[in-house]
Amino acid sequence: MNIVLMGCPGAGKGTQSAKLQQKFDLYHISTGDVLRAEIASGSELGKKIAAIINDGNLVPDELMVSMLEKIVSATDKGIIFDGFPRTVAQAEALDAMMKRLNREITEVVMIDLPESEVVSRISSRRQCKKCGAILHVDLNAPLTACPACGGELYSRADDTPERVKHRLEVYHHDTLPVKNYYQNSGKYVEVNGNQSPEQVFEDISKVLEKVK
Ligand code: AP5
Ligand code: MG
Repeated sequence: MNIVLMGCPGAGKGTQSAKLQQKFDLYHISTGDVLRAEIASGSELGKKIAAIINDGNLVPDELMVSMLEKIVSATDKGIIFDGFPRTVAQAEALDAMMKRLNREITEVVMIDLPESEVVSRISSRRQCKKCGAILHVDLNAPLTACPACGGELYSRADDTPERVKHRLEVYHHDTLPVKNYYQNSGKYVEVNGNQSPEQVFEDISKVLEKVK
């Protein structure tokens, strides 16, 4: 089973991927995490990527696709694609890549969230440097360490309200056309992301139980 998980910034792709990965024994690829790992490595490529993603823009399709193909080729497990494809060109490249690897996309799940929720959700997000956990913190009494592993928590450089607004514009312009690309494929479903994480997980799980 190979799943594409779509949704605007803050829709809950990372939160749901962590749960789905465990339940369905899938390999989780977040292209955002892949790019942030390249930045953290301190490489020259990472410096170029930082300049792009910290402003909330997309890295070029060819670079993203070539980084992704290496990761996909290295696993035999079913995959959750989180944050990819983000352009129609990436969606076409993904189809071609999966065909070459004798695989196919099983289902495309869109987590639907009203934009009015996005800035406040993302402002309250912290991520653990050690275990990668995504947390929703109370800004009046913010956590100082990860409750799961004690690791240091951080806010992403692209999570300021201004950058989030720009990321939403990019989402509209470049990524919403991907929804049209998949909508007539018979593999596209939407779930309501504006409910508790547990309820969203239940709804996505029901969809995946049917296709696994
Ligand atoms: P990426 O890291 O993918 O960011 P994004 O798509 O903007 O999405 P987020 O990670 O911000 O949100 P999410 O949907 O994962 O939500 P989360 O679960 O964390 O990409 C970052 C950048 O990298 C891009 O802008 C671009 O520059 C570049 N990039 C990445 N992929 C690329 C590609 N394919 N091509 C080119 N460039 C690419 O949840 C958010 C918060 O809400 C958390 O605090 C969480 O606890 C909370 N929350 C989650 N679910 C719920 C719920 N149901 N109710 C209440 N709170 C919830
Ligand atoms: Mg994410």
